[in-house]
Amino acid sequence: MGDMPDVYEQKLPKPEKLNAMTDESLHAAFAGESQAAEKYLVFSAAAEDEGLPHIARLFRAISFAETRHARNHLRVMGGINKTADNLLVAFQGESFEIDEMYPAYQEIARSQKNQQAFRSMTYSLKAERDHKRMYAEAREAALRGKDIADQPVSVCLICGHTVIGDLPDNCPVCAAAKEYYRTFE
Ligand SMILES: [Fe+2]
Ligand SMILES: [Fe+2]
Repeated sequence: MGDMPDVYEQKLPKPEKLNAMTDESLHAAFAGESQAAEKYLVFSAAAEDEGLPHIARLFRAISFAETRHARNHLRVMGGINKTADNLLVAFQGESFEIDEMYPAYQEIARSQKNQQAFRSMTYSLKAERDHKRMYAEAREAALRGKDIADQPVSVCLICGHTVIGDLPDNCPVCAAAKEYYRTFE
């Protein structure tokens, strides 16, 4: 677990053989904690916009706490493995979203004339295709015991379009200007 001293790492809950209902419970708790973490970050930004920075901080901190809970649940479920295996899980998740989930969800939204829902799903679907490819390439490297090239990864703040290396002048998905990307150096 990274730079954590052994004494603390020993306190983390560990993978164990799970009975079916406990396994289901942890899956549900992992989903709930993950959702809460993201929701609180969004709420934090909203509080900042309202000029309430200390409430924003509270949301940020509790969001982080929820990430610790989610991580612990995932650990116990045996969901954290070697990077090549983690990349396969990530690749499979993106593939499911591309091949089944979003196409089916889009049909529902289209049939119900919920255009904004359709737009939100389309933004996701288009980005997942890039994510899938990036994970596939990263896995190729990891299986050879290599890292990927040292290049920044940038994400469009509007639609989540993800690009490695140079930025386009405008997002190819939502047409936002390149200033609307956040870059991970
Ligand atoms: Fe994705
Ligand atoms: Fe975009």
